[in-house]
Amino acid sequence: RKKMILDLDTGIDDALALAYAIGHDDIDLIGIIATYGNALTNVTAKNSLDLLDLLGAHDVPVFIGESHSSTTTDFTVMPISQAIHGQNGIGDVEVAASTRSVDSQNGIDFLIEAAHQYKDELIYLPTGPLTNLAKALKKDPSIAKLIGQTTLMGGALTVPGNVTPFTEANIHQDPEAADYVFKNQENLTMVGLDVTLRTLLTKRHTQEWRDLGTTAGQNYADIMDYYIDAYYNLDIDKKGAALHDPLAVAVAVDPSYVTTLDLNMQVTYDQESGDYGRTIGDKAKLLEPTISKAAVLVDQDRFVSDFQQMM
Ligand code: BDR
Ligand code: CA
Repeated sequence: RKKMILDLDTGIDDALALAYAIGHDDIDLIGIIATYGNALTNVTAKNSLDLLDLLGAHDVPVFIGESHSSTTTDFTVMPISQAIHGQNGIGDVEVAASTRSVDSQNGIDFLIEAAHQYKDELIYLPTGPLTNLAKALKKDPSIAKLIGQTTLMGGALTVPGNVTPFTEANIHQDPEAADYVFKNQENLTMVGLDVTLRTLLTKRHTQEWRDLGTTAGQNYADIMDYYIDAYYNLDIDKKGAALHDPLAVAVAVDPSYVTTLDLNMQVTYDQESGDYGRTIGDKAKLLEPTISKAAVLVDQDRFVSDFQQMM
């Protein structure tokens, strides 16, 4: 079993990624780092703790990561994030509060320590902004080679973004950090909107969770239905809602779900450029050995059906 760290801005699809990782036989979830994005960091940390308890994973620790981007001193949740994920990040559903608290160790130090301890065995999986990884890399550059695999949800290479025509939300939060990560972190796979927007869940699926008759099934169905309704009402997709973050988890343990392109990438972070936050091939490194891959195609039917089996 691979050791996995999830770095989550929990978030509805982050909540799905968490459940998927816990349910997966090949994954040993050793910790969650809380980050900002769909909600404030202290809210996403609480969501992760509450969901872990709901799913019976009482032993998985939650660590606090950064609460704003590497170039700002504060963070406000984007209105579009609130519309999609609700005020509390999980569809305004009240999940029973965990009695546990966050770990006293900082999330960045936890990541660095785990990289040294587990090396090749470690999968680091961020589903929010890349601020924590960029900070960890600057503190200890050796983790670029140590971490076995970094699989991230973020970016858009071949399809329009979801914040601007060029920019996906996680990258948009901290393009400087993302650029630093793409240029330095080895063995990295980007699972972006190119593939995640093709993986849709519907109310037919959430009805099956409801039918389980468990509190977890009921809570998760309520959370997910909020997200499906938001996709419908905001005209993002009328057929269902995207399994962004859980797809990244699936790809990390079974890369055959996607077809990838070997590519050294960079992110535009010049505010004036008009494509701020864009993930794009690094022209200066086209002839150099690649350190990353970008997913461009996905076997969506197999993934959605496997995901539903797991839930
Ligand atoms: C990504 O942004 C967040 O809102 C979602 O949780 C997902 O990680 C999609 O662009
Ligand atoms: Ca997310």
